This record gives sequence, C-alpha cells and structure tokens, in this order.
Amino acid sequence: MSVEEAAGLLAAARRVFVVTGAGMSAESGIPTFRDALTGLWSGCDPMTLASPDGFEANPELVWRWYASRRERVLAAQPNAGHLALVRLEGRYEDLMIATQNVDGLHGRAGSRRVLELHGNILESRCFREGRRLEERELDASRVPPSCPCGSHARPGVVWFGEALPDGVLGEAAAAVARCDVCLVVGTSGVVQPAASLPIWGRAAGAKIIEINREESEITLAAHVVLRGSAATVLPSLVDRIAAVRNASEAS
Ligand code: OAD
Repeated sequence: MSVEEAAGLLAAARRVFVVTGAGMSAESGIPTFRDALTGLWSGCDPMTLASPDGFEANPELVWRWYASRRERVLAAQPNAGHLALVRLEGRYEDLMIATQNVDGLHGRAGSRRVLELHGNILESRCFREGRRLEERELDASRVPPSCPCGSHARPGVVWFGEALPDGVLGEAAAAVARCDVCLVVGTSGVVQPAASLPIWGRAAGAKIIEINREESEITLAAHVVLRGSAATVLPSLVDRIAAVRNASEAS
C-alpha cells in the first residue's frame, strides 16, 4: 500500500525536494561514510580523518584516505536509483536534489538541479585560501599536492566542524519550504544541518516520504515509509507515479 500512497502524493505534487545520503550510492559500490573506515583505515576515527585538525596533524594520511575513496568513486557508476531520479526530475517544473554525498553520481546520472551539501570528493581546494584548485595548479610531486601559494591542497569536501559551502543551505532551505513532497533517500538523518531539511519541510506543510533499508532519525517524521533499497524502490515508485497520472488523466 505505501508505494501506492507515495505515488499518489508525488503524482499530485508540483514541487518535489529530494534529500539523499550514502544509502543512495550503496548499490553503486560506494561504502557508506562509516563503512569506508575498513582495511588500512580500520580503527581510525572519522574525526581525525575528516576534520581540519585531523588534516593539519597528518595531511598525508588524510589525503591518501580521500585518494583511496576517490578511486572508488571514479570506478563507480550511477545506479538505477540515480537514474530513476533523473526520470522524476523531467516530470516536475520544480524538483531539486540536496545530497549529502560527495561522489557526484547524481550529476553523472544526468540530474541537473543538484545541491552538493557536503562538497565533492573529486574537487580540491587550497587548505589556506579555501579556493577551488584546478588540476593543473597542483604540484603533484608532493603528498598532499601543494597549491601555488605553498599550502597543502585538501579534498573539496565539508569536514566535521566546518560550515556548508556558501549559499547552499539557504537555497536548500528555501526549496524545501516551498515543496509539496520531500523525498528522503538513504540517510541515517544524524548529521546536521542536512538532517533538519525534511523537518523544515514538514513544518512548512510538505508530505515526507522516506526510502531506507532500515529505521532512521527521519522515520518518525515521515508520512510514508518505503522500507527497501534505493536502487529497487525508486524505479518502481517512478513507474507507479506515471501509472497514477495516466489513470487520473484517463478518468
Ligand atoms: P550513513 O552512513 O550515516 O547512513 C546511511 C543510511 O543509508 C542508513 O540509514 C542506511 O540504513 C541507509 N542505506 C544503506 N544502504 C541503503 C540502500 N541500498 N538503500 C537505501 N538506504 C540505504 O550516511 P549518511 O546519512 O549519508 O558527512 O551520513 C551523513 C553524513 O555523515 C555524510 O555526508 C558525512 C557523514 O559524516 C560529512 O562528511 C560532512
């Protein structure tokens, strides 16, 4: 029943806001953030690997950890869930995706309106200046590579204790406040401020639909919960929306 319910809400919606987390990319072979701490990195505390202090204390270790994650991201492909969201985007005048993922897979799948709340692992920035660095600017003879200013290059992702990229949260908050439906896919809902977006949407009157393999911090706020994996549930949901719309047009 709940897929029907979700399809009914989405078929009637004009504005849709999608929040995605690591579960969105799990079926592309990218471990969720906390699963990434395996093998050589097992036992490392994310706070030491994903924080400015951690980078300053051991820039080579942190850079190499991100380099290993970049390799996995570059080898990954968008999955059926990413592609289903591209189909969905084409059916609405106003659909926006706000992702916590740094893998760029929504863009590679073809989604055009994507806010990368936590940056992008394939980008590099100057640790001192903060500006984005082009590949050609990097002195790759060192690890981490250095910026022309002499400081280290750092991954273009948001670390613990850092603010989101300028303007991104404001744009996401404005979009979720005007949406009819907020679709939340594959996030534990524990990291702020991303986890507040569905709550803000609900407070503004949006219906919340969650897709997750298990319960999350978002579940209690959801009007409809679809228990399952993103790559399976999203394609069938998008198919059902089309069927509901066709049926209502035929009647
Ligand atoms: P988590 O690893 O915290 O949670 C992943 C969520 O996806 C869990 O709720 C899983 O149940 C669910 N999940 C796993 N596989 C799934 C699948 N195939 N289909 C659907 N759901 C699935 O990842 P996030 O919630 O994204 O922040 O974590 C948020 C942030 O925590 C990350 O962006 C990162 C980390 O600190 C920064 O790096 C700033």
